[in-house]
Amino acid sequence: MDFRWWRRSFFGAFLSWVFFFLRFSCSDKACAAPEYTFVKEATSAPPVIFYDYIIIGGGTAGCPLAATLSHGGATVLVLERGGSPYTNPNITNIGNFASVLLDRSPTSPAQPFTSEDGVYNARARILGGGSAVNAGFYTRASTHYIKKVGWNQKMVKQAYEWVEQVVAFQPPLMEWESAFRDGLLEVGVLPNNGFTYDHLYGTKIGGTIFDKEGHRHTAADLLQYANPRKITVYLHAIVHKILFRHIPGTARPQAYGVIYKDAYGVRHLAYLKRNSKNEIILTAGAIGSPQLLMLSGIGPGYHLRTHGIQVVVNQPLVGQGMADNPMNVLLIPSPLPVEVSLVQVVGITKFNTFIEGASGLSFVYPLARRLAKRFRLFLNQSDYEPFKVPPEDMARAVDTVNAVVNRTLRAGIILEKITGPASTGHLELRNLNPDDTPFVTFNYFKEPEDLRKCIEGMRTVISVVNSKAFSKFRYKNMPIEALINLMLTLPINNRPRHATAAISLEQFCIDTVMSIWHYHGGCQVGRVVDKEYRVLGVDSLRVVDGSTFYRTPGTNPQATVMMLGRYVGKRILQERYLSRRSKHKN
Ligand SMILES: Cc1cc2nc3c(=O)[nH]c(=O)nc-3n(C[C@H](O)[C@H](O)[C@H](O)COP(=O)(O)OP(=O)(O)OC[C@H]3O[C@@H](n4cnc5c(N)ncnc54)[C@H](O)[C@@H]3O)c2cc1C
Ligand SMILES: *[C@@H]1O[C@H](CO)[C@@H](O)[C@H](O)[C@H]1NC(C)=O
Ligand SMILES: *[C@@H]1O[C@H](CO)[C@@H](O)[C@H](O)[C@H]1NC(C)=O
Ligand SMILES: *[C@@H]1O[C@H](CO)[C@@H](O)[C@H](O)[C@H]1NC(C)=O
Repeated sequence: MDFRWWRRSFFGAFLSWVFFFLRFSCSDKACAAPEYTFVKEATSAPPVIFYDYIIIGGGTAGCPLAATLSHGGATVLVLERGGSPYTNPNITNIGNFASVLLDRSPTSPAQPFTSEDGVYNARARILGGGSAVNAGFYTRASTHYIKKVGWNQKMVKQAYEWVEQVVAFQPPLMEWESAFRDGLLEVGVLPNNGFTYDHLYGTKIGGTIFDKEGHRHTAADLLQYANPRKITVYLHAIVHKILFRHIPGTARPQAYGVIYKDAYGVRHLAYLKRNSKNEIILTAGAIGSPQLLMLSGIGPGYHLRTHGIQVVVNQPLVGQGMADNPMNVLLIPSPLPVEVSLVQVVGITKFNTFIEGASGLSFVYPLARRLAKRFRLFLNQSDYEPFKVPPEDMARAVDTVNAVVNRTLRAGIILEKITGPASTGHLELRNLNPDDTPFVTFNYFKEPEDLRKCIEGMRTVISVVNSKAFSKFRYKNMPIEALINLMLTLPINNRPRHATAAISLEQFCIDTVMSIWHYHGGCQVGRVVDKEYRVLGVDSLRVVDGSTFYRTPGTNPQATVMMLGRYVGKRILQERYLSRRSKHKN
């Protein structure tokens, strides 16, 4: 496929101008928060509106998709259930990563939920989606992944670059992250690949969406690319239902509008303008997209009927294939102060486990909340026979507790995440409220290969903690057993715990599993959508987000989710343009 056509077009010229303007006005990308005239509160929306594209969810994929589609001559509407990321310091400042996850208010940008597996988790509710609340690590999918999915490699590369021009930065590597990186190299996670966005075996510094000042840039920043005359974004606009109709003479139901509610609970309607090329695109994320399909009548028939939902298409695969990569962690209290870092370095091992580290604040947010309370256990020497802390270290350990209260934790974490995973589960409606998280089951470690990867990953984590390079950031008299026992005493999930004495790494993986928030599936390609992301069995509806994945791309997914929004947007424009041209010919 060749996209040179758009360069010749008016919109291409416009885009180049936007590029030029962006470069000119934000020389190091760290420009002030953009002021979008087209982003409004849904309370200001008319009761009935008509657009060419209706995008449900202004998230990590939704924003780049909308910005791209606004250059096709068509009008674009984005409906996002959350607010703006530009006004909340919990979001814009790297030091507040834990705060946003600790915000449990009904309007929190990170809506908490617990999966049926008993693992704490979070779901974005804000313009920018997950990219507005996440740990910011930015890294591309492997060439192997891109080939396997069947994407056009050249277009993928261009789409990544388009994203990176606005939101990706090289992190300033400081002492803790350097020691962690050197530890990975020392234990043989080689070669040293330096700084790169590419997915390569060995140890690398990846990108981040935090700039040098520690300010977050999100997928919402990609709306800078949008044609402001063609796009409207409504905030606090929660979509309740996609509407379908039967066109006489066609067999398939066609999506033609949506019902959404504003912050006052007032109902509005948005319809597609009459044109067979117009579409509704669901970008509500791996939980929101299958949930909204079900609420709109596309899903397992028996399940929908239990909830009194009229079945449009009996599609038993909606909500299937839900997967969440298990994360297992060691928390390592540090005798030295540490910098605030979220993920910057990753070890990509040959056995398909990724090793990442973070320091200075609680990446593992339930720890921040509860560590202070439980720390007494940690200090109880009799609980940890081999772990004897001399009084002077004890005083420093108490400082660590105080630091937790201060949100800057004098400790680091080293985590391992397995690829895939092979284990999958499913999603079921809890009720008819789209803002409530449905029941989600991920079945962590159901497949033995996942457990094997975790054990190997934990072995590597332990080797890094024990490495010479890392030694200054751990207490010498705190052996690995004490760190393991510490994890077992912390309420990091809501699962049964086994005896702390001499626990196997296998049991450790199972008992202390957490989410790294890379959950995906529910509307997978080939099962719920086709290769162009069109929903099977209906017309004028696509799903474009993490729910379409079988496995997480790269070590962390957000780069590829943003890329996907851009990529599919370009393909849709191409389709629209080609059909327009062929109409002219006829
Ligand atoms: C705490 C956390 C840390 C993470 N750390 C990293 C990291 O460091 N690096 C990385 O690469 N990835 C990370 N991730 C994962 C990454 O952010 C997600 O995989 C990605 O953002 C998912 O994108 P998405 O477009 O599929 O969904 P989302 O970005 O979640 O977008 C879905 C959007 O749809 C909206 N929505 C849902 N339902 C409705 C509805 N009914 N009506 C209107 N709007 C609706 C939501 O509010 C949301 O804005 C992290 C995720 C979290 C939560
Ligand atoms: C930031 O997070 C804290 C919870 O840690 C919450 O109390 C506060 O209201 C949040 N601030 C904003 C502006 O949302
Ligand atoms: C410390 O250990 C002793 C002996 O095992 C136990 O009785 C006590 O409850 C522990 N204290 C705390 C705070 O857990
Ligand atoms: C928080 O940190 C500041 C400065 O580092 C320190 O002065 C203060 O005592 C700390 N507060 C707590 C509760 O530890």
